[in-house]
Amino acid sequence: MRFKQLLQAKLSEKGIIPKELLDFVPRGFQDLNHRIILKLHPKIEPYAVQIAEYIPQILQNVEAVWNRKGEIEGQYREPAGLVHLWGDQSTEVIITENNVRYKFDFTKIMFAKGNATERNRVPKKVQKGEIIIDMFTGIGYFSLGMAKTRRPKKIYSIEWNPTAFHYLQENIRLNKVSDIIEPIFGDCREIVPKLASEGIFADRIIMGLLPAPTDAIPAALSAVKPEGTLIIYEGIDKKESTRLFDEFSSITSKYGYFCELKERRIVKNYKPHEYHVVVEIFVIPQNCTSFKITIN
Ligand SMILES: C[S@@+](CC[C@H](N)C(=O)[O-])C[C@H]1O[C@@H](n2cnc3c(N)ncnc32)[C@H](O)[C@@H]1O
Repeated sequence: MRFKQLLQAKLSEKGIIPKELLDFVPRGFQDLNHRIILKLHPKIEPYAVQIAEYIPQILQNVEAVWNRKGEIEGQYREPAGLVHLWGDQSTEVIITENNVRYKFDFTKIMFAKGNATERNRVPKKVQKGEIIIDMFTGIGYFSLGMAKTRRPKKIYSIEWNPTAFHYLQENIRLNKVSDIIEPIFGDCREIVPKLASEGIFADRIIMGLLPAPTDAIPAALSAVKPEGTLIIYEGIDKKESTRLFDEFSSITSKYGYFCELKERRIVKNYKPHEYHVVVEIFVIPQNCTSFKITIN
């Protein structure tokens, strides 16, 4: 039997919630190292604590149950509204995925289960000897996998949320990649042009942020290598639309770059009819002798 049916059966057997509300029982959950995160419908939230007590009876090795009342929000992309319902109250976990270890506090840092394929896919594209700039690093979602599995020459990993930056530093140690990743604290829109002014140019730039960070495109362009540089750009889009690529190329053309769409991938459904989309874009300077740009 599936999770929803099992939980419905328990709750109706014990008379925990009125029969007419059984349909609102969640279909799934997120499991972060035996901490089960539910997203309860507001109609059954008054019964949250009682519902949580039955989770260990239908799933194995449960250490805690939480309810997520909010979304991922704000400039730091933080999870909002996590409420403890049952069990152990510790909030720091280590998740191992594709041989990479991610340590974080799940009440302060997002870790989307639906991005697992993308966390695996992005590193696979990296070539030996590359210089990479990861502009929106978080706790190292892409940087750690790239460093651990592909061993590029250097990754400059930029993050401005102090909590995420703390875990990024811990994860670099945990995964033994401090020879490859240089963590940099601050606003990537200021740091990337500074790297360029020091003579650091990248083969690959990752712009992993929702919604798509258009205001960071000029900074990214300031630090691309003059030929064949790839930018991985995330955002929200309709299923078949070319808006993300069009938006990116209309900005880059003002700075004297041609763009070529290399690949477009749908990461996951974001809202009805809206998708979390990743586009890989080659940027090619129209005139190689004038590829350096100035940021206003
Ligand atoms: C959590 S990751 C994005 C993961 C995933 N792609 C998403 O948005 O759902 C984005 C990270 O970028 C950081 N960030 C946002 N704007 C930034 C900026 N201007 N400079 C540096 N880091 C920034 C946030 O603090 C966050 O940790």
